[in-house]
Amino acid sequence: MSVRLFAPYLGEDELNEIRDSFEKSWVGLGEKVFKFENAFSEYLKCKNSIGVNSATAGLHLALNAFRFEKGKKVLVPDITFASTAFAPIYNGLEPVFVDVCEDTVTMSVEDLQKKYNKDCVAVMPVHYGGQPAVMEKITDFAKDHNLKIVEDCAHTIGASYKGKKLGLWGDVGCFSFEEKKAMTTGDGGMICTNDTEIAERIKSPRWLGIDKDTYKRSSGYTSVEELDVKHWYYDINELGFKYNMNDLSASIGLIQLKKLNWMNNRRSEIIRKYLDSMKDLKYIRPILPFEPEKYSYWLFGVRCGKRDELIKSLKSKKIATGVHYVPLTQVNYFKKWKSDCPVAEKIWNDFVTLPLHVMLSDNEIEFVVESLYEYEKNNY
Ligand SMILES: Cc1ncc(COP(=O)(O)O)c(C=O)c1O
Repeated sequence: MSVRLFAPYLGEDELNEIRDSFEKSWVGLGEKVFKFENAFSEYLKCKNSIGVNSATAGLHLALNAFRFEKGKKVLVPDITFASTAFAPIYNGLEPVFVDVCEDTVTMSVEDLQKKYNKDCVAVMPVHYGGQPAVMEKITDFAKDHNLKIVEDCAHTIGASYKGKKLGLWGDVGCFSFEEKKAMTTGDGGMICTNDTEIAERIKSPRWLGIDKDTYKRSSGYTSVEELDVKHWYYDINELGFKYNMNDLSASIGLIQLKKLNWMNNRRSEIIRKYLDSMKDLKYIRPILPFEPEKYSYWLFGVRCGKRDELIKSLKSKKIATGVHYVPLTQVNYFKKWKSDCPVAEKIWNDFVTLPLHVMLSDNEIEFVVESLYEYEKNNY
């Protein structure tokens, strides 16, 4: 038996929706993207959702919307995926790496206060693995220091924290539908905001800065009511990017969104099983203070002092593992922006990500847990 780390949950319904787009012979930015955006807004209970081809593109466009002066600084956690820190750099801004909390692996508010200076214009909290960042404190700090908040919600979709949906605490929230995530569109992302002015500043640059969508213009190409020979005309008012979602991705997204609550619950059930059966381990501990009945996690993992030996032992049993993430201050490209993040530097050495996806069977979970017990018995 080999146990997969992540796996998307896709089936006939997604295929049928894609077939429908084939039959309509429209697979680019079109009706399905708008439908998916509306469905997502309804799901999250927000005013605006904008579909893009990745969360990476979403984070870029979100910061772009604020028109920050070049050279200003954006606060990002040290433990996250590279996309969070690339977003300021794409915008001519500088990332400032903030240390994380030892237990939750989310941005430390104490270090945020220390790293802040008057050049900072925004903060990008990440809900690591689905663990909510301390949003009430981060929003208070941001308000007091005039910082915009772009929430990186790549690891969680649909969960609430202190009564408010994650993604709606900040000015803008960005979600990921990359193949491994809580739901997928192959690749894709959604930018959500209740600020309609900001939403307007995101829509146009996601489609090359063109002021009219091809899909909407195309209805005028053959319209006999509207004998305007300039139906093809559009203007460009700003630098744009080719970041739009397409109808094939949106077809998958429309179906995945209907399954999302079920998939979130299934992942929670699996985490509960892991936690209950791991209680007697002494040297291997859950990576996060998981509360699977409360939040929606995308990642499950453990901390173990002899991390590499554990990975080797699990690998010998064909159990896939990962490490999320090497702190960005230790990644070659980001060394230029290195700052002191002693907690991140210490804790990541113990991280091991374990299999978590909705198709993981009880047998597989038991096999993973038994392997952890066996490892502990033989190595401590
Ligand atoms: C924290 C975080 N932010 C952003 C991204 C980027 O998402 P995408 O792959 O949709 O661009 C990821 C992807 O893994 C991520 O983990």
